[in-house]
Amino acid sequence: MSRFFSGELNTLAPYTPGEQPQDKKYLKLNTNESPFAPGNEVIKALNTSQAELLRLYPDPECTMLRKAAAKRVSLNEENVTAGNGSDENLAFAIRAFCSKDKPLAFPDITYGFYSVWAKLFEIPARQIPLTDDFRIKIEDYFNLNCTIVIANPNAPTGISLSVDKIEKIIVNNPDGVIIVDEAYVDFGAQSCVPLINKYDNLLVVQTFSKSRSLAGARLGLAFGSKELIADINRVRYSFNPYNINRLTLLAGQAALNDEEYFKYCIREICKTREWTANELKKLGFTLTQSETNFLFAKHGEKHSRDIYRFLREKGVLVRRWDTPGIEDYLRITVGTTEDMKKFIYILKSCLEEL
Ligand SMILES: Cc1ncc(COP(=O)(O)O)c(C=O)c1O
Repeated sequence: MSRFFSGELNTLAPYTPGEQPQDKKYLKLNTNESPFAPGNEVIKALNTSQAELLRLYPDPECTMLRKAAAKRVSLNEENVTAGNGSDENLAFAIRAFCSKDKPLAFPDITYGFYSVWAKLFEIPARQIPLTDDFRIKIEDYFNLNCTIVIANPNAPTGISLSVDKIEKIIVNNPDGVIIVDEAYVDFGAQSCVPLINKYDNLLVVQTFSKSRSLAGARLGLAFGSKELIADINRVRYSFNPYNINRLTLLAGQAALNDEEYFKYCIREICKTREWTANELKKLGFTLTQSETNFLFAKHGEKHSRDIYRFLREKGVLVRRWDTPGIEDYLRITVGTTEDMKKFIYILKSCLEEL
């Protein structure tokens, strides 16, 4: 830390992203990316993207992308805004809808970035414990006088809440914004987007990083009432109006227009998830009910730290945390069927040798 670093941020512990190693080729099951390349429509759009146009700034309104996104979910373009990944939309929303008097509430085990943003923006955080089986008790979220952010399905547990239950949280917090982070919703959970016309305090955040194979393009969308979206844009235009680059805009529009490939990828990932879950059970793991593109698993005898190390040495990356309550667990991204067969094969030898 330099002597110039803001004293107010002395205790800021930044978010630690999953490793993106460049030293050798790993079987990468650690950051919940898609194992599938972007579809042909995306590749075509990028190939014909007239690179010379990169000299011009992109459309700050992301008009075409927002139109395509809104149409897909029967909303208007004024109900949508775009972010540089859903991380950016989440950060803008937290900045827009929280303050010293309006803390940010979220489960104690969830996406690690929420608490980092709260700290960065000097917003009080209220962490609400999950039950022992990693579930959200909705009554804990009633009448909080907070802005609430809920990852649905939750990460890293993979467990989802029904829309009915989230609706109860929305209804019981009429004066607070409920942000539903739907990064993994396409893999089996229900989306809250259809509730947007009904509630002016609901913001839904989605990403192109998982089900749409565009983690490297950095693109996310936020859906909400016209007024909530205008508030987020107020923050966005005060920070970086050109937040989505030209190539990403093209890739995003093309991805939205290729529903068939989107559905194919999801089907494959869900099928492979179920196969992998069964294999893990046979090897002595217990798992949560995942409705995501990852599995959250704990072995009956061997510690996750040792399994993690062994796998890493053999060229397989998964994710684990030292956080109390989940330190025995591994989070394993679902890859292709071949990836997962290889993973299970290496894991078997790991369990024999440990
Ligand atoms: C729950 C959750 N929300 C948001 C994100 C960020 O996604 P993006 O790549 O769109 O910034 C992630 C990434 O892994 C996530 O797990």
